[in-house]
Amino acid sequence: MKRKVCSLILAIFLLFLLPEGTALPADGTAEVVAPLVALTFDDGPRTDATARLLDGLALREVPATFFVVGNRIAGNEALIRRMRDEGHQIGVHTFDHVEVTKLSRPDFDLQVGKTRALLASITGEGEFWLRPPYGKIDGSVRQWADGPLILWSVDPEDWKDHDVNRIAGHILSHVQDGDIILMHDIFNSSVDAALQAVDALQAQGYCFVTVEQLLQARGIVPQAGELYR
Ligand code: NI
Repeated sequence: MKRKVCSLILAIFLLFLLPEGTALPADGTAEVVAPLVALTFDDGPRTDATARLLDGLALREVPATFFVVGNRIAGNEALIRRMRDEGHQIGVHTFDHVEVTKLSRPDFDLQVGKTRALLASITGEGEFWLRPPYGKIDGSVRQWADGPLILWSVDPEDWKDHDVNRIAGHILSHVQDGDIILMHDIFNSSVDAALQAVDALQAQGYCFVTVEQLLQARGIVPQAGELYR
């Protein structure tokens, strides 16, 4: 049901892109613009935690975006396939979780390209946008990225204390329409906090989207080497 509401809202956004004078629904639904938010998860997959997260997101019909670490994919291929099959966006977070600003061009291509190739071999063709570890970006990284660079706007620092209520509370007190929330699907506490925040935000009328859907809804055409947060 909630996904249907969100689809309707996305459809309405698209209507605004139509030429002026195009008829909008007469029942007033066009005025209902739900706040959008994108949940993103870095550093996984981790067998148990990511599976629990996918179960919880499926139950709530919430799509998210996963920036995966290449060296964690082996043995977790089924989780990557689940992400694809269940409507999530998949991106790369390098192969070994390294600071890309410290890499030579060949090492950058290895860290990012190898992870993209591995993902493509599991899911089929895809763009696999990049989130550089620690958010470290410079001119070379922008030039080499071969896709958009995705940062974040809300960071509950879920790695710090693993306190589910504090993490969820941080999200709820900071989130605004259009935010990208940074979390990590390698901690069970982060999974619990994310699902707790989803329940509260859905009750407030928030609509969850992938990063790609968020940009699309805002009429932004993603460019290679550009930063989005
Ligand atoms: Ni990371």
